[in-house]
Amino acid sequence: MIYFDNSATTKVHPEVLNTFVTVNEKFWANPASIHTFGHQTNELLQSAREQIAAILKTSSEKVYFTSGGTESNNLAIFGLAQKYKQRGKHVLISEIEHPSIIEAAKKMNELGFEVEWIPVDSEGIILLESVKKSIRNDTVLVSVMHVNNETGAIQPIEELSNIVRKKSRALIHMDAVQSFGKIPVNFMDLDVDSITISSHKIHGLKGSGLLALKKFIEIEPILYGGGQESGIRSGTTSVPLAVSTAKAMRLSMENLGSKAVKLQSLSDDLIEFLQSFSFIKVISPTKKAPHIISFSVKKMKGEVLINALQQQDVIVSTSSACSSRQTKTSHVLKAMHISDDYIKGVLRISLSTISTQQEVDQFKIVFKHVMNVIKGD
Ligand SMILES: Cc1ncc(COP(=O)(O)O)c(C=O)c1O
Repeated sequence: MIYFDNSATTKVHPEVLNTFVTVNEKFWANPASIHTFGHQTNELLQSAREQIAAILKTSSEKVYFTSGGTESNNLAIFGLAQKYKQRGKHVLISEIEHPSIIEAAKKMNELGFEVEWIPVDSEGIILLESVKKSIRNDTVLVSVMHVNNETGAIQPIEELSNIVRKKSRALIHMDAVQSFGKIPVNFMDLDVDSITISSHKIHGLKGSGLLALKKFIEIEPILYGGGQESGIRSGTTSVPLAVSTAKAMRLSMENLGSKAVKLQSLSDDLIEFLQSFSFIKVISPTKKAPHIISFSVKKMKGEVLINALQQQDVIVSTSSACSSRQTKTSHVLKAMHISDDYIKGVLRISLSTISTQQEVDQFKIVFKHVMNVIKGD
């Protein structure tokens, strides 16, 4: 099987799985317990937190383990806006965010915040001019993802932060689920206030991830209970998942430069191949993360292509895993004003650092065959 759906989820790295099993076997105490076993488990948890803080260049007290990207994004949106609401109730969110931000933002509207949407250009990149116009004294929160999960478009976060910092005291949240482990992510360079990471997108385990805040930034919890994770995320912390997340993050940072070069070369090869078909339009912009390639086959339905490819053991997705089971058109493609001829036939190839040139070569053979059968030429 050629698995090119790594933006939906990745295969667990054997070393991460090994870490998870070992920690479950040896350190299964509750890290909040005051006996020695509890202390030992807590030490392991704190060491995972410190490793992550070192990678992201923040302090360990600002790393909160969660159930993954969705929870971290919800925590950021509700928790930051609530904590700093005395600064204002205006919130700016990009139109192409993951549903875990979009739906949270819609709820914020109901809770009395005023949500304004940041539009994108035809390449799916946020319009900074629009941010300049919309940002206000009473803007409390701005949320823009680092890499879009449907197109791979890299958003101009540094430029965005510059604009926001000049005009307001708003907090900036960045969903780094599709960027971490693919391109550099850190608080200093990007000048954001919070970052979401999900483990299963970087060969870690599903149901785990984190929200990290920049030093000195505070947040209100959205879950109440025993006060774990410094009171920000109640519920017994899963030490095996936390340690596995740290492991997955460390592994994904190893040789990041050379992995990115390899991914870029696979992506370039695929794009050149796709561009050789007159009826295919590459949707991903030039400024994109190397692992995502979005394209569309004119006047075709994405689902038909997915099924035809699957019969040949090639796994890709429609624009995103979330939208692939729904019939409604992706909000990202709509925001980019993709024309009617192309909007239904969008496919996403998403690679991982374990994808190979042989797989790409095989994909090309299968894809050509499927196109011949479907298009009859
Ligand atoms: C950009 C982005 N943010 C958030 C999420 C949600 O992450 P999780 O599946 O860990 O809840 C995803 C998952 O597809 C994503 O691609």
